[in-house]
Amino acid sequence: MAQLWGGRFTKETDKLVYDFNASISFDQRLLPQDIRGSKAHATMLAAVGVITNEERDSILQGLDDILADVTDGRLVVTTEYEDVHSFVEANLIDRIGDAGKKLHTGRSRNDQVALDMRLYIRGEVSDLEERVLLLMKTLQDLMKENLHTYMPGFTHLQKAQPVSFSHHIGAYMEMFKRDFSRLKDIYRRLNYCPLGAGALAGTTYPLDREMTAELLGFDGPTLNSMDSVSDRDYCIELLSACATMMMHLSRFSEEIILWNSNEYGFIELDDAYSTGSSIMPQKKNPDIAELVRGKTGRVYGALTSLLTTMKGIPLAYNKDMQEDKELTFDAVDTTKNCLTLFNGMISTMQLHADTMAVSAMKGFTNATDAADYLVKKGVPFRDAHGIIGRLVLYCLDKNAAIDDLSLDELKGIDPHFEDDIYDAISLKTCVEARNTIGAPGPVPMQKVIDRNESFLKELSVDPA
Ligand code: ARG
Repeated sequence: MAQLWGGRFTKETDKLVYDFNASISFDQRLLPQDIRGSKAHATMLAAVGVITNEERDSILQGLDDILADVTDGRLVVTTEYEDVHSFVEANLIDRIGDAGKKLHTGRSRNDQVALDMRLYIRGEVSDLEERVLLLMKTLQDLMKENLHTYMPGFTHLQKAQPVSFSHHIGAYMEMFKRDFSRLKDIYRRLNYCPLGAGALAGTTYPLDREMTAELLGFDGPTLNSMDSVSDRDYCIELLSACATMMMHLSRFSEEIILWNSNEYGFIELDDAYSTGSSIMPQKKNPDIAELVRGKTGRVYGALTSLLTTMKGIPLAYNKDMQEDKELTFDAVDTTKNCLTLFNGMISTMQLHADTMAVSAMKGFTNATDAADYLVKKGVPFRDAHGIIGRLVLYCLDKNAAIDDLSLDELKGIDPHFEDDIYDAISLKTCVEARNTIGAPGPVPMQKVIDRNESFLKELSVDPA
């Protein structure tokens, strides 16, 4: 056990207590962030004259060597250290001696860990943005290709009105656009540097917090040292964004599972994204979509868990906060994986446009259009609604669709029906005549697709 704080203790820590308290098994993944933060701190300490330039140089070299040695497998992170911060400091002192002992001047693990987590989250926010962007590009391709692929739209999982596949996918596109902007938002809010907050009350050393913030690419230092060490809003915001993204992926997965079923047959998942059964040779199961749906619970759990952990904690740092790590790491890893797997799954699936169209023609999805037809012939909407209701009953009795009836039969129900009814309620008209903003008609859909195109192009341009 290599501890930073043995001085005031007269007994060894109980082994179970040590293990319970330690975080090295999971916070070792913060090693690159910890080293980066320490390098900025040492650079600033030298700039304000707290350490010499020689000490700074030897610290910087030592820190670089530690990272390189761990990366190349020459140095192994072991549970002999309490956490990643102790591991780095102890190793640094082993390598460079007394200069290493000065690194922690004017710093506490409380501001150090807050910095490491912000740096980690900043990186993960960008990684998530990249994955959402790739998914949005797949959705955009599907939208472009399927303006005229008709399918039933549902409410209450009952066929309602026809839409296009492009329009249905466009709904998810809007969700992921919001997810993307949420990630951008989180980045803006979290990008302030807690380093220099110390344990909770700053420090008497003349630390230049503006300088460390700038060295680490932050927009500035955080403004209250107590808040700096006890704030975990950025983790909660990220978990909340992940939970929302997972909710979107989960709803989409549910639809993929339905569409891929024998009963719907709207799509077929690629063999590479399906799995078999150990007993039923005919099976090809949508396990990936089911797992994405299932893992959503796990990400919600992380959000609920961290919110609950934080709710009773008095200011400032308390060890409860160490719980943020495993929850955040797991939820972020899960969301990243799901985004990528889901993207692969939908970019390789096959569409069965004919089956979708046949399905859209059944179930009276054109009943609203039939009522609107009568309205255009001068019948008040409420009366038209009643007439078409009776017409549907008549059709149900005959096991026919509205379009299957002869003009005589239609006129028997209402004299306003004319020859032009068949065109007015055809599947094509039902979709393509819906041209208000946001509707499935090709005119507004093309406008949305054009907007998406410039939005995606702008995002894909390398900002460098
Ligand atoms: N492992 C700790 C955490 O993750 C680091 C901070 C420890 N600070 C302390 N005062 N014990 O929160």
